[in-house]
Amino acid sequence: MKNTTSSSSEILLVEGGQKLKGRVRVSGAKNASLPIIFASVATRETCSLEEVPDLLDIRNVTELLKRFGAFSERRGALFTIDPSGVKSFCAPAEIVSRMRASILSMGPLLGRFGEAVVALPGGCSIGARPIDQHLKFFSTAGAEISFRNGYVHLKISKKKPVEFGFDLVTVTGTENALIYLSTVEGRSVLRNIALEPEVLDLIEVLRKMGAEIDIEGRTAQIRGVGEPAGFHHRVIPDRIEAGTLMVASVLTDGEVLLENVRLDHLEAVVETLRESGGEVRECGEGVVVRRRGRLQPLDITTAEYPGFPTDMQAQFTTLLSLAEGTSSVRENIFENRFQHVRELGRMGARIEVKGRVAHIFGVSLLRGARVRSTDLRASASLVLAGLAAQGTTLITDIHHLDRGYERLEEKLERLGASIKRLPAELS
Ligand code: EPU
Repeated sequence: MKNTTSSSSEILLVEGGQKLKGRVRVSGAKNASLPIIFASVATRETCSLEEVPDLLDIRNVTELLKRFGAFSERRGALFTIDPSGVKSFCAPAEIVSRMRASILSMGPLLGRFGEAVVALPGGCSIGARPIDQHLKFFSTAGAEISFRNGYVHLKISKKKPVEFGFDLVTVTGTENALIYLSTVEGRSVLRNIALEPEVLDLIEVLRKMGAEIDIEGRTAQIRGVGEPAGFHHRVIPDRIEAGTLMVASVLTDGEVLLENVRLDHLEAVVETLRESGGEVRECGEGVVVRRRGRLQPLDITTAEYPGFPTDMQAQFTTLLSLAEGTSSVRENIFENRFQHVRELGRMGARIEVKGRVAHIFGVSLLRGARVRSTDLRASASLVLAGLAAQGTTLITDIHHLDRGYERLEEKLERLGASIKRLPAELS
């Protein structure tokens, strides 16, 4: 098995022009695994998970759990956490800076200890990403909140049920609040919650831990338990990895059978892919994806689930850069998620960004170039561009890709792509 925990010292070399063909299995979802692993800190009992992907963000959360005093191990398909020894409630800056999702430690630590000290994550390459909604929720729940040396200190002396409405839909904000409230006895209400499949998967787990949770529209009613139980759970398939592989198949005019896919989590993506010239068909063993004629231009707007996911925006920007005509992509979730555009430009894509909208003027050919990954999904869009381009594409800073895709280059290679991971010295 190749090393997936690269540093920025590795590169990917992609020789474009191969049609992807064959079958590939989609891994478990990163963004479901992370909150579920954090939720385990709220209990003292052993928890086990199947389908936790082996990637950098998961290794980061494992390291954080160790700092808290929890023991976790991966043995075959099973990822086990023993949180009985958790004593520390501090998430240090060196880990939070590597993985923003570390803010998900607030909910379980406050639930278990009434106290959490978490480094402030700050902005990142896709936007400012404030955590005001997380803090507003905990403040409403009765937390005293103070800031010192780049850390936020939260303390709750008496847990009580809460009624709270988010000002905007936030995925990890919803997850933090749900995990905390699952430890609070009595009836709490959360309004304007995120309904991403990853949030619903976490809710399944919180129910296994003993919480009663009812959802109606964007409102959740939660009855927590003082001593949450351990759980066993199988994580849902990664809809963004599935979507990325679907785009790869259409983009290269290939035919790929994807296994372990939940099409009901991908409705907006599949509809958009079909409109752009892709064919997506369920068969007994999975989902077959291929091209149907020429790539069509489209107008896409990202939105909260069930809308078109921001995490698929960069990949579709690559696809549409080869469509016949002019497309537009409006990014409504993150204000700075167009960094792949400049890199795609080096490969011959014609894209103009004005504020939150990218206008894409389709070209007939992309050419291999040296490009740089700036964030996780931007890296995926560059890999896709490399697969479709004429010539060789060299992608640097692929640690971004490794944060969220499990051995992507191995999967693509098995589908016929010419793609290699190399040390940067060889670039
Ligand atoms: N926001 C605020 N205040 C807050 C929280 C969020 O203003 O307190 C804003 C954000 O700045 C953003 C919007 O609300 O403009 C939505 O952000 P959200 O909180 O939903 O994002 P997140 O929870 O930080 C998760 C995923 C992201 C994914 C987004 C949107 C995880 C670990 N991360 O982030 O995944 O893009 O939801 O669906 O679940 C990725 O996997 O590449 C990734 C970035």
